[in-house]
Parts: sequence; structure tokens; C-alpha cells
Amino acid sequence: MAIAAPDRTRYLLDEDRIPRAWYNIAADLPSPPPPPLHPGTGQPIGPGDLAPLFPMELIKQVVSTDREIEIPDPVREAYKLYRPSPLHRARRLEAILDTPAHIYYKYEGGSPSGSHKPNTALAQAFYNKAEGVSRLATETGAGQWGSALAFAGAYFDLDIKVFMVRASYDQKPYRRILMETYGASVVASPSLDTKYGASVLADNPDHTGSLGVAISEAIEDTVTHPGTKYSLGSVFDFVLLHQTVIGQESIEQMGMAGEEPDVIIGCAGGGSNFAGMTFPWLGQTFRGGRSYKVIAAEPEAAPSLTRGVYAYDFGDTAKMTPLVKMHTLGSDFIPEPIHAGGLRYHGMAPLVSHLKQLGAIEAKSVHQLAAFQTGVQFARAEGILPAPEPTHALKVAIDEALEAKASGQPKVILFNMCGHGHFDLSAYEKFLAGTLEDYEYPDAAVEKALAGLPKVGV
Ligand SMILES: Cc1ncc(COP(=O)(O)O)c(C=O)c1O
Repeated sequence: MAIAAPDRTRYLLDEDRIPRAWYNIAADLPSPPPPPLHPGTGQPIGPGDLAPLFPMELIKQVVSTDREIEIPDPVREAYKLYRPSPLHRARRLEAILDTPAHIYYKYEGGSPSGSHKPNTALAQAFYNKAEGVSRLATETGAGQWGSALAFAGAYFDLDIKVFMVRASYDQKPYRRILMETYGASVVASPSLDTKYGASVLADNPDHTGSLGVAISEAIEDTVTHPGTKYSLGSVFDFVLLHQTVIGQESIEQMGMAGEEPDVIIGCAGGGSNFAGMTFPWLGQTFRGGRSYKVIAAEPEAAPSLTRGVYAYDFGDTAKMTPLVKMHTLGSDFIPEPIHAGGLRYHGMAPLVSHLKQLGAIEAKSVHQLAAFQTGVQFARAEGILPAPEPTHALKVAIDEALEAKASGQPKVILFNMCGHGHFDLSAYEKFLAGTLEDYEYPDAAVEKALAGLPKVGV
């Protein structure tokens, strides 16, 4: 296709182009994903099972098969603080790579808290507030999600309690300070604030934490504090739904550029940024449009999609969540403390896992050092310092661009640069000093964790 604006670097949409609805992929899936199960009965869970944790409007979104779910006005109003986000053509990076590929990236790092996470944080805070909730408990890995919810709590006037994975708490004190500045209360997980956290610390006082442990603590906090609900930054269907504003905007912006992507890439921790970018494109395919090569990029240290099994498993370590069918490394798997804290998760969103099973998407795993190397290359070429998580998508995008160079076949690559790395400078410092390490996939540890998979729904 001819390029509509051959010299443009950024494709910008006006405020009134913020999508009016989230895109619900459930309407277009070739087959529905297996249902979440109650761990006690082995039966599909119903809305009543989720009511202690979430407000009813969010539960309705999980069961809805409507293609469009209207974004409430107060949420759209809040989105105006940073949406629509820009789409960039990475011209300098293309020149440095000397590739015939065209590389586009959507940049979500310009949100108030620095990543894509406010897209769902604002929605969740709004619905909770509307149903009379006064306090939310949550977990955070990298601190990006906690910052987003802390921001949303300040915006919609809710108290926020954050259980922050110990490894990130220690590596990223400034993330904690940002959350506290927004008014949230933050504790390192495992913590002594919950019975479960205390039991983990009793076994191992030096535990570096994991998202699985922090989720268990946040759920325990929720069910033991009246007026509190649970909020989460990834994995669950409604979180993925709220992120689809990214992909919808990117469809319009690629139209402004007069191009269509051949390859679409997102990093995947729990799957929300990946889903947000790719689901609206995949929906077009499912409705009879052209197909795209869609790639989820994950860390070699927690490779759930590339090396996990597709099975019913718990979302947390204390086994308090419903059982969901997903690619998992086992809920007891504690990933090494890589700096992409947001990608340290044993499982994957059930919807993303289902798409992998259907063959609609592929997955690639990336080592930490290779990811950081491309992060530095990107910063020097494009000026933006990426968060460690999207450097995984960046690495896969660069590999695709180099493949185009080797084959002499031009292609259009689109990926989501879903956060900035301004709070990750200690990791960049280690990389530049040559002291950052790769972590091998610990086969034995994962095999042990997989052996503990629940025997439900098999
Ligand atoms: C910048 C960034 N990207 C990606 C992720 C991974 O989460 P998800 O797969 O839900 O997008 C996180 C999680 O904290 C994050 O902070």
C-alpha cells in the first residue's frame, strides 16, 4: 500500500478519537475458551463466586459476549489525561539496522504513571467507586501496576493497599515513593500483614517474592477487610478488555500511515498489554479479514507460553483463585529476580493461552541481556528509554527487521512500547557495567512445580 504521509514520524489522534467502547474478543473467537472452575467443586464458577472480589459491572464484562462494551464517560474523561497515545515510526532505528522493514511502535509510556496499566486501573477504580467500595487491595510486580492503581485511586478517591514483590521493592524504591506520593500504602511481599505472607517468610525469610505470592496476599487482605475489593493489573478477561483501546487506536493510526502490519508484537507477562495491542487486529482476522503474524514475547526466565503446559492451574501461590486453563509453569514456580518484574509470572491470561492453542498467535522467549541490549540501542536511536518488559517485544521486532534485511523482503512491523524505564535505571546501570546476568530456565524447579498441578478438569 502507498504510504499516505511518507515523512511522518508520529501519528497523532485528537482527543475525540479516544475509543468509545472496549473491544470484546469473546464476540469473535472461533471457539470459546474453557471456563474457570471452582477449585472445591470442579464446576464452572458463577458471578456469585467472584462477587466478594470484584464489583458487579466488572463481573458482567467477564461473561459478556457483546463485541463492544461502552466506556463510561468518567473513564473516557480520565483517559484524556494521556490518550490517544502516539504511534511512532522508528525511522532512526530502521536506518541504524539498515533494514527494508518499516517499524512502528505505539508508545504507552506517556501515561501519568508511565505504562499502559492506567487503561484498566482507571476503569476498575471507577466501577468500584460507583458500587460504594472505599478501598482496593492489589499486588504489583515491577511497580508499574501499583503506580497505575495508586494514580487511579487518587483520581477516583479510593484508598489503595499495594503488595509489592520484594525483588522489585528492593530494586525500585522510587516506584514505591511514586505510589506513596499518590497516597497508596505499600508493603514488600511476602509481608507480615497477612497470614499467608507470614507463613512464606517463616519458611524462607529471604524470599524475593513473586506475583503469585503477592496476589495471594492481596486476596487475603480483601476478604479480611470490609469495604475492600481486589484489583488486578493483568490476566483476567476484563483487564485485557480495557487494554483494547491501544489496538483500536493503532488500527486508525496505521490507516493514517497508509500501511498494514505484517507482524504485530507485544511483550507478555500476564498478557494484558499483548492483548490490548493485538486483540482488535485479531478480531478483524476472525471476522474474515487478512491474517497477521502475531507474536507474544516473554522472558526466558518465566517462559509460560513457550515451555509451560496448557492446564488448569491456580493464578496465585496460596491457591486461593479460581482454577483457570492457561499456559503455566506451575503456581509454585518462583521465577528468578529478573529486572522485567512485570513478566515474572508463572501463568498467562486464559484468553491469550486459548489463542495460542488455536494457533492464532505464536510466542518467543528472550534472554534478559539480549533484551537490555536492544533497550539501549532503542534509547540511543529513538530517545525513549524502554521499561525492561517491552524490551522483550523490541528484541523480537528487531529480529524480524533483521530477517527482512537478510531476505531482502520488506515488511511492516508493529509493536507496543508499553512503558518507559525511568524507574529501572539501576538495571540499566548494571547492564552498562556488565554485571547483569542471564538466568537459565531451571528445568528441575519447573518440573517440581508442574508435578503439583491440581488434578481438576484434566
Ligand atoms: C511496562 C510493563 N509491561 C508489561 C507488563 C506485563 O504485564 P502484562 O503482560 O499484563 O502487560 C508490565 C507488568 O507490570 C509492565 O509494567
